[in-house]
Amino acid sequence: MSEFIEIIGGTPLRGIVNVGGAKNGALPMLMASILTSEPITFSNVPNLEDIHLTLHLLTQFGADVEFTGSTVRIVVPRLLATEASYSLVKALRASFWVLGPLLARGGAARVALPGGDMIGARPVDMHIAALTQMGADVSLKHGVVFATAKNGLKPAKIDFRFPSVGATHQVLMAAALTPGTTLINGAACEPEIDALAQLLNRMGGDVEGIGTGQLVVRGKEDLGSAEVTVLGDRIEAGTYLLAAAVTGGEVRAQGIKPAFLGGFLPVLNEMGLSVETGDDFVTVKSRGELKSVSVATGPFPDFATDLQAPLMAALTLASGESTITENIFEGRFRHASELCRMGASIQIDERVARIAGVKKLTGAPVEGFDIRAAAALVIAGLAAEGTTELYEPHHIRRGYEYLETKLQKLGASIRCRVADAEDFAFTGC
Ligand code: UD1
Repeated sequence: MSEFIEIIGGTPLRGIVNVGGAKNGALPMLMASILTSEPITFSNVPNLEDIHLTLHLLTQFGADVEFTGSTVRIVVPRLLATEASYSLVKALRASFWVLGPLLARGGAARVALPGGDMIGARPVDMHIAALTQMGADVSLKHGVVFATAKNGLKPAKIDFRFPSVGATHQVLMAAALTPGTTLINGAACEPEIDALAQLLNRMGGDVEGIGTGQLVVRGKEDLGSAEVTVLGDRIEAGTYLLAAAVTGGEVRAQGIKPAFLGGFLPVLNEMGLSVETGDDFVTVKSRGELKSVSVATGPFPDFATDLQAPLMAALTLASGESTITENIFEGRFRHASELCRMGASIQIDERVARIAGVKKLTGAPVEGFDIRAAAALVIAGLAAEGTTELYEPHHIRRGYEYLETKLQKLGASIRCRVADAEDFAFTGC
């Protein structure tokens, strides 16, 4: 039976939402457990499909995994395998990042090449070039990357042409277990990178320059045990804050450092919202009609591409014309056509979306094509008149822990429903 999320819009959201651990922070941190034979204990791990997929992948390499509540304990006493299959890499693109840690610990890795996906081509050339510079012998056969480093990886000076989040994670992990000094110039500076670097240091590693684009990694022969708390999810926080904004409500996102949100908070100010911040929270309060803005996505601290779709949903109801320029992923506007089905007025010209604010959205059956597109449609549904049915809710399960429960606590009318046979006939499934 297929499920969908039903949202009856029109209620201003009010209250406090506890932000969970960051999916994008947890994934590389969990993968770093490959780098040691000693246990790593993670707290504040979100209960999400992508996390379960990663844990499943780690067990294939020989990891013992215990997941209790939001705590995960992983130990990889011996590497039993060094292969990540296509089915897993396809389901979770980030699983390609195990290539570096597998090479560093085991001297060999076979990882399926991730294909393009719904938000663009997403090549991995920078990952492969960097590991090659570190002495890996890398070849591609039948869609699988074969990499070996018979005598171990060697330190290198890596210059990234673009601050790729995934390539930075990949090289950081590999370099931490490669004796000698590896320099990473042009590293990504996202808070999730800092969190991985801090974990590596807790494991006995030596990463300097955390928070900057120049990382100095003095690699070690061995890394050891550590305990770590996963940082709060800035994208989840931003999603709920935009939902509050567009429904005319007031929501405090608790469990997030405001600085993690980078260029997002100034945009909320520009939209005419009242924004209050504390050590570990951000509160957004509506002051009436939303104002239009011009926003361009970029590497941290610029506006995060992962909040582009949720922002677009909110801007559909702002006064005047907004523009969003998507600088990170070329194909990341597929949510626009679904928003238009709900009454939005959006024109796409290559990387620029022009959003002419409308007076109201109306509920409709819609489908999200990736995690953030699905979140955008939830936001639109919360603000729309009538009922929205969001199909393919598995995208939500990949990135938003307990979404319906959290929104219900803020006053939303939202629930998960099972589609019956008539729904299938009606929707042509
Ligand atoms: C990560 C995040 C994703 C976020 C993105 C940008 C996770 C699990 N995913 O994805 O949610 O939207 O960062 O903040 O944390 N590129 C290349 N060659 C490469 C690598 C990247 O050309 O070898 C390009 C990509 O095509 C893209 C840009 O660099 O245009 C950014 O990609 P990257 O930062 O690597 O994103 P991901 O790590 O895939």
